Amino acid sequence: MAYTDKMLRDNALKDKIIVVTGGGSGLGKSMTKYFMELGAKVAITSRDLEKLKTTAQELEAETGGKCLAVQCDVRHYEEVENMLQAVLKEYGRVDVLLNNAAGNFISPTERLSANAFDTVIDIVLKGSKNCTLAFGKHWIDTKQEKSTILNIVTTYAWTGSAYVVPSATAKAGVLAMTRSLAVEWAKYGIRSNAIAPGPFPTKGAWDRLLPGDLKDKFDLAKKVPLKRVGDHQELANIAAYLVSDFSAYVNGEVITIDGGEWLKGAGQFNLLEAIPEEMWDMLEAMIKAKKNK
Ligand code: HXC
Ligand code: NAP
Repeated sequence: MAYTDKMLRDNALKDKIIVVTGGGSGLGKSMTKYFMELGAKVAITSRDLEKLKTTAQELEAETGGKCLAVQCDVRHYEEVENMLQAVLKEYGRVDVLLNNAAGNFISPTERLSANAFDTVIDIVLKGSKNCTLAFGKHWIDTKQEKSTILNIVTTYAWTGSAYVVPSATAKAGVLAMTRSLAVEWAKYGIRSNAIAPGPFPTKGAWDRLLPGDLKDKFDLAKKVPLKRVGDHQELANIAAYLVSDFSAYVNGEVITIDGGEWLKGAGQFNLLEAIPEEMWDMLEAMIKAKKNK
């Protein structure tokens, strides 16, 4: 068994209807592909219809499944409502909303215009809110028995992070929404969960977070205790589990998949990793020598 293997049994998502925002590229595309392999019917949405159509064709050819491409800028509530109607027209039902669409770039916060800050908040927080509200109202109105919201956040949703402040602010809001609705909407059979990925290479993220030779200067794998970045299938495995009925009792959870990255940054004495093994005998002796003095 390898961590790049596919985890769930065949047909684990058979006939589930899943909407993936930002599903035309990056992690959204990888999760979508695995959902289709497990028998789900999917809709992928983003601003770029041509990209979505190309991805949908590619994934249908690769998996033999069904993938609908729907243009939708999540910042605009009426576009989200239209997207939901397009999905219902095609499939007659929808079971899962995966809020994956995001916008982000590195910048000192004082360099940001008000519009730049808003742009990221609007895609991440308002976009996730728009989709959640539209889908939630639909599920409640139609008394659908079980449905699931899965939000992709980041570990800096709770630690915060310099230089990506609009994204950190927005992801914190998405995490609060996840936990709040897990309680409030459980009575309608709606589960809400989140995944907080560490570094998973994608063009969208790397071009904006590690432009130019920053990729070589800041090797993100070095920040991870397990000394590697994530593989898309590892994330897809968790996402598939969280939208499947195997996780029917998981609600309000955020699953971190980061090789231990954020805890490495958090532990006050984690830097002692730099002490060579042979020094520990000496240090222990020094500490014990201080006893009762
Ligand atoms: C300062 C910037 C900027 C930059 C844009 N702006 N880039 N300001 N530094 N690098 C400003 C613009 O000048 C403008 O403000 C405002 O932001 C909006 O820019 P537009 O280009 O008009 O916006 P738009 O076309 O809507 O594009 C949105 C975007 C873009 C967020 C700026 O990067 C995008 O489309 N991103 C989508 C994909 C993405 O970001 N993927 C990465 C997700 S990774 P003014 O005032 O001039 O009008 C992620 C990972 C987290 O979330 C954790 C990783 C470990
Ligand atoms: P990505 O490929 O750039 O994905 C972002 C997607 O969001 C794109 O498909 C983009 O499509 C879509 N999008 C952006 N603005 C939109 C809007 N206004 N309306 C609708 N769709 C919009 O980057 P990624 O790395 O795969 O990121 C996917 C998710 O993982 C994000 O939530 C991100 O925060 C999270 N994440 C990633 C990492 C990582 O290491 N990669 C780590 C932690 C969390 P269009 O441009 O076509 O609209």
